[in-house]
Amino acid sequence: MADSKSVHTFSGAHVDVTWDSRLCIHVGECGRAEGGLFVGGRKPWCQPDLVSADEVAQVVERCPTGALAYTRKDGGPAEAAPARNTVTVANNGPLYVTGDLRVAGAADDMPGTRTRVALCRCGQSANKPFCDGRHEKVGFVDRGAIGSVGKGVEGDGGVLEIKRAKNGPLLLSGNVEIRAGSGRVAWRGTKAALCRCGQSGNKPFCDGSHAGAGFEAE
Ligand code: SF4
Ligand code: FES
Repeated sequence: MADSKSVHTFSGAHVDVTWDSRLCIHVGECGRAEGGLFVGGRKPWCQPDLVSADEVAQVVERCPTGALAYTRKDGGPAEAAPARNTVTVANNGPLYVTGDLRVAGAADDMPGTRTRVALCRCGQSANKPFCDGRHEKVGFVDRGAIGSVGKGVEGDGGVLEIKRAKNGPLLLSGNVEIRAGSGRVAWRGTKAALCRCGQSGNKPFCDGSHAGAGFEAE
């Protein structure tokens, strides 16, 4: 992938790494990894030849937002979708989603087929449906407790479609389990409307509060 204003490529002999600055919310999973693949302040920050291509893949796949991706040049396997689709409700933060994802309405140069995304649920991101870290600035508070258990899944995995209702919730369709902020697997089902305005009294689910709150978003 060519470098653009937002997407930076770090080329290695066996694998290339790309970083999309629009998706990075500085969780730091990359910089904490052992081996020196990513070192903050170093130039270049990412040096793919310092570790094996398998280690590059393993570290890049830790990135919970999908800001990091890799392309193998050594014939090694491309990133595979996890066997199960999961949403983790972060404490005072976004929805971390992993699986065989189809995210509708992403920018032209942001592929909708993804395995890792962080989705805004405070309503304030300037890069919806993705989180841009704004929840911290606006003091969004929700610990990620979940009350209901869902109707169950129809097997494991498969495609998880993620669409947006105009001025309303995220619409998920496909087998998915939702984990509470504590890490507990709380809810399993095949259809979910998840709050993205930040106002629901039944988070992470939409309770219709977006209408009264005047939430406006494509
Ligand atoms: S792991 Fe991903 S989201 Fe976190 S700091 Fe690294 S690139 Fe950014
Ligand atoms: S999107 Fe927040 S209550 Fe519906």
